[in-house]
Amino acid sequence: MSGVNDIRSQFLDYFAREGHEIAPSSSLVPRNDPTLMFTNAGMVQFKNVFTGLETRAIPRAVTAQKCVRAGGKHNDLDNVGYTARHHTFFEMLGNFSFGDYFKDRAIELAWTLVTKEFGLPAERLLATVYAEDDEAFNLWKKIAGLPEDRIIRIPTSDNFWQMGDTGPCGPCSEIFFDHGENIPGGPPGSPDEDGDRFIEIWNLVFMQFEQQPGGERIPLPKPSIDTGMGLERIAAVMQGVHDNYDIDLFRSLIAASEEVTGVPASGEQEVSHKVIADHLRATSFLIADGVMPSNEGRGYVLRRIMRRAMRHAHLLGARDPVLCRLVPALVREMGRAYPELGRAEEMITETLELEEQRFRRTLDRGLALLDEATEPLDEGGTLDGETAFKLYDTYGFPLDLTQDALRGRGLTVDVESFDAAMERQRAEARKAWAGSGEAAVETVWYAVKDRVGATDFLGYETDAAEAIVTALVADGKETDRLEAGTSGAVVLNQTPFYGESGGQVGDTGTISAPGVRFRVTDTQKKADGVFVHLGTVEEGVLVPELAVDLSIDAARRASIRANHSATHLVHAALRKVLGTHVAQKGSLVAPDRLRFDFSHNKPISAEELAEVEEISNRIVLQNDRVATRLMALEDAVEAGAMALFGEKYADEVRVVAMGHEPGEDGREKTYSMELCGGTHVGRTGEIGLVTVVSESAVSAGVRRIEAFTADQARRYLEDQDRRLREVANVLKVSVADVVERAAALADDKRRLERELADTRRKLALAGPAEAGGGEEVKTVGSVKFMGRAVEGIGGKDLKGLVDDAKKQLESGIVVIVSRADDGKAGIVVGVTKDLTGRFNAVDLVRAGSEALGGKGGGGRPDMAQAGGPNSADAAQAIAAVEAAVAAAG
Ligand code: ALA
Repeated sequence: MSGVNDIRSQFLDYFAREGHEIAPSSSLVPRNDPTLMFTNAGMVQFKNVFTGLETRAIPRAVTAQKCVRAGGKHNDLDNVGYTARHHTFFEMLGNFSFGDYFKDRAIELAWTLVTKEFGLPAERLLATVYAEDDEAFNLWKKIAGLPEDRIIRIPTSDNFWQMGDTGPCGPCSEIFFDHGENIPGGPPGSPDEDGDRFIEIWNLVFMQFEQQPGGERIPLPKPSIDTGMGLERIAAVMQGVHDNYDIDLFRSLIAASEEVTGVPASGEQEVSHKVIADHLRATSFLIADGVMPSNEGRGYVLRRIMRRAMRHAHLLGARDPVLCRLVPALVREMGRAYPELGRAEEMITETLELEEQRFRRTLDRGLALLDEATEPLDEGGTLDGETAFKLYDTYGFPLDLTQDALRGRGLTVDVESFDAAMERQRAEARKAWAGSGEAAVETVWYAVKDRVGATDFLGYETDAAEAIVTALVADGKETDRLEAGTSGAVVLNQTPFYGESGGQVGDTGTISAPGVRFRVTDTQKKADGVFVHLGTVEEGVLVPELAVDLSIDAARRASIRANHSATHLVHAALRKVLGTHVAQKGSLVAPDRLRFDFSHNKPISAEELAEVEEISNRIVLQNDRVATRLMALEDAVEAGAMALFGEKYADEVRVVAMGHEPGEDGREKTYSMELCGGTHVGRTGEIGLVTVVSESAVSAGVRRIEAFTADQARRYLEDQDRRLREVANVLKVSVADVVERAAALADDKRRLERELADTRRKLALAGPAEAGGGEEVKTVGSVKFMGRAVEGIGGKDLKGLVDDAKKQLESGIVVIVSRADDGKAGIVVGVTKDLTGRFNAVDLVRAGSEALGGKGGGGRPDMAQAGGPNSADAAQAIAAVEAAVAAAG
């Protein structure tokens, strides 16, 4: 028997042999489609190739594509478990020709695969064609030899395939398998076609048109081929089973589910096991592709799927988390084909466990309430919407979970009154934000959020995506046009642009459509989850509903990522080096640097800084994968994750862990773990290098560190190195001798300065007197008086000079004026001790300073100092002091 894994490989290998390139499945979160919630067909990743926007080196491809049909337009969630062929997650096998082969070759390849490779009996197969497609009809006759009564013309849209409201489309032809007479049901197109006898196994789409938004259909550049075969269905056919849940893959998953619950998959319980097996796949693959359970958008679809599965586990009697215990079985079955599943195994397990634990707290109480409310109802009855809303709002029961719980008893929910209750609650919320204060200023954003919901953030996984414009705001008001040259804000249904938060700056980049370009200069987060792209329209006109291409400035974001991750490393290193009192007080994560403020009450020494760098760079070199996971707040804190004191966190938090403790047994110990919503490097090695460039005080008890990473750090260090070499060059020594040489030069400089001062002093006293009438020493009244003017002698030296002169005189009064280069002058007056009873140097120096245009002066009776702006009046100053001596004597 061919297992699912064999069939998948057989399909891929067959088309590879026929010149097709095996392309990996694209993410379940479509990057290149603005309207799709989840990837729901193999052709989604090739949309732009069909329309000619993109080209591929090889014009033929084959894929096994992960698909989810839950939430949004294609929603199979409600039927899963109760039918043989509905899934939320399935794999679509497909071959594609991008303007290469067309109908004939496509039919030939398909027919050969099904009959020769897969060995299905030709007599059990039939084909449908679009009613007007004679060409396809004749090809089936010619190539497959199918009799005319087994080629059925279908006039309806069933045989015209369209990706969505817009996009590539064309007539299609489907291959059906006949399960035999003993199964009820008629051939396609017949009144009882919905029976289970004839099952569609493969859809071949002859892509010829592109559906335009206005309703017009334009031809594609070249006719192309897109096919889709449900792997689970073909496996059922090939394994001779009728129910998709009986194929080997599902048998294994259901066996695992039986084992962990201890309940056999039979009778009523079978439904629950099927639901668990199906939802386990959808859940795990979505988490592996970066979707996290939440109350908005994709995250809410995921949550609905998870909780639906959890109720079924509860039905089976499980009271502890079980879904998380099934992940290894899934990885075993599908991990080879989808390596991302293995990589995310831990994350999937943790996320499931967390959701199961949380939901368990309210599940019992909610189910009790539900029992109570439905007790009086008979089969065919309706549960009032109020109760269903209470279950939703208070107990976390998604509406479809409540509906599913009632299905077995033939009860339904009054959806209209459920919606009314929901609307009432929203109206209450509107009143609150339209009130006063800060909320009122932000009213416009709350109004946008109320109407279009929170923005789906794709930026953890991708730098580019497509989206739909959901709102435009200019001058604080919503608008329906943003014209070229105007600035404003753009809101989109999804975005890779990070909105400023947690210290990390908002992304920049472009929003564009044919003929339209909006330059995003900043991105902000408003009203609890609306991402606001701020900037200017450079070309064209932006209008709501426009489908746009988004592209962030990827190089800038890469730098931001490195700086954000480095901030965590530096934080942890600071706590190691300085102590655990270090707590984050603020941070800025920009593309060109990181800034980290933290509590610490003294400067950090150069040695400590060097150690912080050393430790951080050691973690960089470990090059460990950076792990992000969702955890319950209390678990995260208990596990030692660093949280910001005083910050308000949700019950579930994103935890970023990186590196391990250095040393022998450090492998198991995480180096840094923080609550963080920011974007980070994939591996610590991408940080490249961490260099602290400054350390300073911000306020009492708070220090600030600034650091560079990667290219900036390298450039900074290169720059430092270049300067050092320049210095060495100037000093004419090798770099190794620079410090010693510079220290010696500084010593020399000090010594020379001292010598110069001494020499000046000596010279000053040795030279001829030029003031006081040329007499160097004269007698004024009864005392000896010496007056001199000198050049450029500083305050301290000037006093020394006066002291020397006093000693020479033994008894007398000395005044020396020093003329500085800048035109100012200093003046010092000295009075020998024996005369201080009669003369006060302070009074005398005042007289002199006035003559120099200055004021005041200070000192002691035996030595006082002053100054003035006019050095040209030195002689007058000496004369003024002399006059004062004469007057006092
Ligand atoms: N795109 C086609 C489908 O999904 C093959 O059926």
